[in-house]
Amino acid sequence: MSNAPLVRLDGITKRFGDTVALSELSLDIAEGEFVTFLGPSGCGKSTTLRILGGFEQPTNGKVLLRGEDVTRRPPEKRNVNMVFQDYALFPHMTVRQNIGFGLELKGMGKTEIRARQDEIMSFLELDAFGDRYPAQLSGGQRQRVALARALAPDPALLLLDEPLGALDAKLRGQVQQELKSIQRRTHKTFFFVTHDQEEALTMSDRIVVMNKGKVEQDGTPEELYFQPATRFVAEFIGETNLLHGELRGTEGDTAVMDWFGQTLRGTAPAGLPVAGQPVTASVRLERLGFHAARPETANAVQGRVTGKTFLGSRMALDIAVEQAQGATLRAYTDAGTGQALSGDVPVWIGWDEASMAILRD
Ligand SMILES: Nc1ncnc2c1ncn2[C@@H]1O[C@H](COP(=O)(O)OP(=O)(O)OP(=O)(O)O)[C@@H](O)[C@H]1O
Ligand SMILES: [Mg+2]
Repeated sequence: MSNAPLVRLDGITKRFGDTVALSELSLDIAEGEFVTFLGPSGCGKSTTLRILGGFEQPTNGKVLLRGEDVTRRPPEKRNVNMVFQDYALFPHMTVRQNIGFGLELKGMGKTEIRARQDEIMSFLELDAFGDRYPAQLSGGQRQRVALARALAPDPALLLLDEPLGALDAKLRGQVQQELKSIQRRTHKTFFFVTHDQEEALTMSDRIVVMNKGKVEQDGTPEELYFQPATRFVAEFIGETNLLHGELRGTEGDTAVMDWFGQTLRGTAPAGLPVAGQPVTASVRLERLGFHAARPETANAVQGRVTGKTFLGSRMALDIAVEQAQGATLRAYTDAGTGQALSGDVPVWIGWDEASMAILRD
């Protein structure tokens, strides 16, 4: 079974009474990946982690670790460790004792434990704090201790359930970078949960977007941002323009739509509806360009600037597209270009095919 992925969730369903927390969830995670689970409150993120960690049993489906069925195996026999949102450090134990806890459970000898504690404290720059209690540490330091405690027994998989939730914005940014670099240095597999889309975009190799107990889309941050497959993903990650029109058809990976008589071309996800059906397309604000004459882009429309919002380094412009019954587009531009554009003169707005995703639903 050497080719088996580190983690395989196979058709996991979890019901709590009438609530379906997870619905036939299937997911593979490869060794060494940093995967982020992103989704709104209640979509089943923690439940998935708890099932993976062995703290909860699925109603249906299997959990496989390196090809082995561990669905009914208790947490301490899974070689998986979890960092909880509130860190759950033992308040009556010092930093060193907190880190040693999992090692004692593993049945390690005293000398060996001491060596591992030293190693992990030096690795996470906690040497100076060994004798302190959690209450004597800052939020960021406590977070590092929680991580040290989870990493110390050398688990194959680390589950992190919104571990940065309690930190302020500045510290959070720092710890994000730290976590990422720890993951790179240890080559451990991290399964990281957040409901913060910016955090997901900056930290992950791969993002799994969850909605109502199902995987909505699974891809790199760039794919999810520029080629969302569904309206849910397009709106959950970043700000976007949604264009409502009618599908003309697809040509390979390209989809053609009609938008109030304008023919627009974008990328097509698998499973688009048939031609003639209403569809929605998503174009990011920074992908719209301004031109004095009709540009050579796949998509071009004329409009008038109806509103400007100064955002410091850039400007957000609202443009009414007369040919599209006055539908409004929103675009970012540099402040200079934004200042120069007047609402009295129509302007061309262009974007290429790869910048617009036609959405499945
Ligand atoms: N022990 C439980 N008993 C009953 N319902 C539960 C239980 N645990 C979770 N649920 C329900 O299952 C659904 C998924 O919960 P879960 O905790 O996995 O969400 P989440 O994605 O982690 O949300 P959040 O971002 O708020 O932490 C929710 O509707 C929740 O109310
Ligand atoms: Mg949760």
